[in-house]
Amino acid sequence: MERKESGPVLGLESSCDETAAALLAPDGTVLAQRVLSQIADHAAFGGVVPEIAARAHLAALDGLAKDCLREAGLGFADLAAVAATAGPGLIGGLLVGTGYAKGIAAATGATYLAVNHLEAHALTARLPGIAPRAPEFPYLLLLLSGGHSQCVAVEGVGRYRLLGSTLDDAVGEAFDKTAKLLGLPYPGGPALEALAQEGNPAAITLPRPLLHREGCDFSFSGLKTAVAQLVAAQGAGALPRALAADIAASFQAAVADCLEDRVRHALALCPGARALVIAGGVASNRLIRARLEAVAAAMGTCLIAPPVPLCTDNAVMVAWAAIERLRAGFASPLAAPCKPRWPLDAA
Ligand code: KG4
Ligand code: ZN
Repeated sequence: MERKESGPVLGLESSCDETAAALLAPDGTVLAQRVLSQIADHAAFGGVVPEIAARAHLAALDGLAKDCLREAGLGFADLAAVAATAGPGLIGGLLVGTGYAKGIAAATGATYLAVNHLEAHALTARLPGIAPRAPEFPYLLLLLSGGHSQCVAVEGVGRYRLLGSTLDDAVGEAFDKTAKLLGLPYPGGPALEALAQEGNPAAITLPRPLLHREGCDFSFSGLKTAVAQLVAAQGAGALPRALAADIAASFQAAVADCLEDRVRHALALCPGARALVIAGGVASNRLIRARLEAVAAAMGTCLIAPPVPLCTDNAVMVAWAAIERLRAGFASPLAAPCKPRWPLDAA
């Protein structure tokens, strides 16, 4: 088997509730990609069920990878590298993706890369076509997903400095829990944003945890608890829609205020940041995007917000992180383990 110096890279994502595959040319051109959401499989449970997720990844991954290869007119033997998310995430899904990738690498001689999911989010902004010019290092990453809320100084490929993270709930988790209290379906973020359009963001006074405190850690559980107490005080039965809309709008405004404040502090801790990059599902929220764009401009930098399908979990980001790592001289042994917990500053 001959090891290829350059060629297409297959990326696989299976760390949570999206099964995804993507095929990229060595310059980052996306040749084909597929994302299969498992939301319907988990909706009845109000959250991701790890065993259901792992089985769904196992059922879908091979088909998605082969669809990508077929669309690009390529076969496994053409791959220069195959990359899979190896953490952080749910162990069952990680084992499915990395096991599949290792099998291809062992059979074809392609290089294997174990990719950190957070690093993949962090480097997406440098994928050709996302920004007019790929941001150079260092830049500030604000990761806002269902599982993570972090401010990270991205200083180079494999060089990350964690500036702040959540002390309790992740921001997406706070959206989901608050949405549930308001009677909205899972996942709650998009539904809460839609309901907030009808409400008055100044109607209800809610706490802004850690506002103006030093550093850029986050805290959202107090905000969620305040909503829970408000809802409980209304007694049994469904909330009137107008009240639910006011709560949704007031909650969203409180989160936006907190994020704006935390980012101000984070940018101060990362002098010379060439850009503020946002990632994660919550980065698709329009109010939050607009507020962060304004903070970035006020602090002399610019916001890079990848298109929503690249902010949420996908495999293009995994393949792109692999390309960046290959260019930087990294590869992984086939014995590389999955790491359900894998902090970015240990990537
Ligand atoms: O990054 P992501 O797709 O998955 C991971 O958590 O890894 O993020 C999903 C999270 C969920 O909590 C969802 O409710 C939230 O992102 N979300 C939103 C919006 N769209 C998705 N939160 C607020 N506003 C939105 N428009
Ligand atoms: Zn993610």
